[in-house]
Amino acid sequence: MDQPSLLSATETLLAACPDYAATAPLDDLRRREYSRLDRLGEVYLDYTGSGLYSEAHLRRHHALLEEQLFGNPHSHNPSSQRMTDLVDRARSRILAYFNASPEDYVAIFTANASGALKLVGESYPFAPGSDYLLTFDNHNSVNGIREFARARGAAITYVPMLLPTLILDPRQTEAALQRPSPGGNHLFAYPAQSNFSGVQHSLDWIARAQSLGWDVLLDAAAFVPTNPLDLSRHQPEFVTLSFYKMFGYPTGLGCLLARRSILPKLHRPWFSGGTITVASVQGDRYFLAEGAAAFEDGTVDFLNIPAVEMGLDHLESVGVDLIHTRAACLTRWLIRDLAAIHHSNGAPVVRIYGPGDEGPRGGTITMNFFGAGGEVIDHHRVEAEAARHKISLRSGCFCNPGGGELALSISKTEIIGCFNQPWVQETSRFTPDDLRLCVDGKSTGAVRVSFGVASNFEDAWRFSQFAREFIA
Ligand SMILES: Cc1ncc(COP(=O)(O)O)c(C=O)c1O
Repeated sequence: MDQPSLLSATETLLAACPDYAATAPLDDLRRREYSRLDRLGEVYLDYTGSGLYSEAHLRRHHALLEEQLFGNPHSHNPSSQRMTDLVDRARSRILAYFNASPEDYVAIFTANASGALKLVGESYPFAPGSDYLLTFDNHNSVNGIREFARARGAAITYVPMLLPTLILDPRQTEAALQRPSPGGNHLFAYPAQSNFSGVQHSLDWIARAQSLGWDVLLDAAAFVPTNPLDLSRHQPEFVTLSFYKMFGYPTGLGCLLARRSILPKLHRPWFSGGTITVASVQGDRYFLAEGAAAFEDGTVDFLNIPAVEMGLDHLESVGVDLIHTRAACLTRWLIRDLAAIHHSNGAPVVRIYGPGDEGPRGGTITMNFFGAGGEVIDHHRVEAEAARHKISLRSGCFCNPGGGELALSISKTEIIGCFNQPWVQETSRFTPDDLRLCVDGKSTGAVRVSFGVASNFEDAWRFSQFAREFIA
């Protein structure tokens, strides 16, 4: 088998994606700000798992903490006031980054995207006569909202995707959106980019769903690290994200961007420190605060919040469009390259799930490896072999069971059969290994690689060389 050298492969890349040449500033950036990658000789291909922080970002944040005196915000003493100002500034910066007018949106700090999603789930007014509609390829933290919906009697409907592209089926989506239950509140949730297949669903569904009476939750966690999101053009009621996925640091902070117009509809199931104006023990009442404060339980992660502003500064100075171009070019090249790898009997080594290289997709590629006889190679084994080559990739179902079930042809009947086994009913415990044994011989997971701010062509090329080691 011909092993393309890095040099000749670079020519193929530039032919497939001439725009790649314009992303050269990212190579300088990698040398300057992400030098640990090359110093350690590692290939990082898990940007959908977490972004990487720039070294200057850390230095800037630590310098601020070293120089200043900060106290718990929302008091009138100087150390507190200083912190309050920085927290407010970070909120404004987040809105500005997403081009969201402060008249239209509030930025609510959460621990992560899941925390933002839980806030929506617990406070959205689900009731009999209302709907929760969601696509098959959601992260489990979006799927989990169905338990709030179910507990309060709302109807739950999943919209499938088309095979093999895993693109949202436009006919079925339109039909589902046309049928909200009469009266009630209706919530439609989908990922701007699937963390399973990398498919990017059209943002035009937002306005379409809204015109038919739906509130829209856009899970942007996997989309915003390598794509611009303009909330003056697309205005979902809710946007959820985690900052570490955008710029790697700090962990422990995410955001719910919520339209101000939706806030009066939301009901928090409890109150806590920070979310009320007045609460009384003897009077047995409480009065919720206005805006973001009503949704931030207790003390926010105040020392880390200034690092969010710095991370957004960094992304903006690099240019998310540039990062997008680079991720798109590397993705196109790698998809084509992997598709061309065959065993000596002509059988393909890799099968990619989701749209092809020209489809609506971001920089995430999910696949499985196969032997010459067509037998799937366990994804754990692929991850372990990759680790020996200092390649960080992810394997499993990435907390996105619907994407996996569709891509891996695991049917509803099979899954329900597994869950209904007497021993499962008795123990109510079930592991991924139990599922794998139950759906006999089928893979229940896959291998995922993803690109981001510090990716270079050598990363993609080293993964393609690694894939060639499976040729038999
Ligand atoms: C699309 C998507 N939504 C939500 C999440 C949840 O993010 P977190 O684990 O930071 O809460 C993830 C994480 O991988 C994701 O990719």
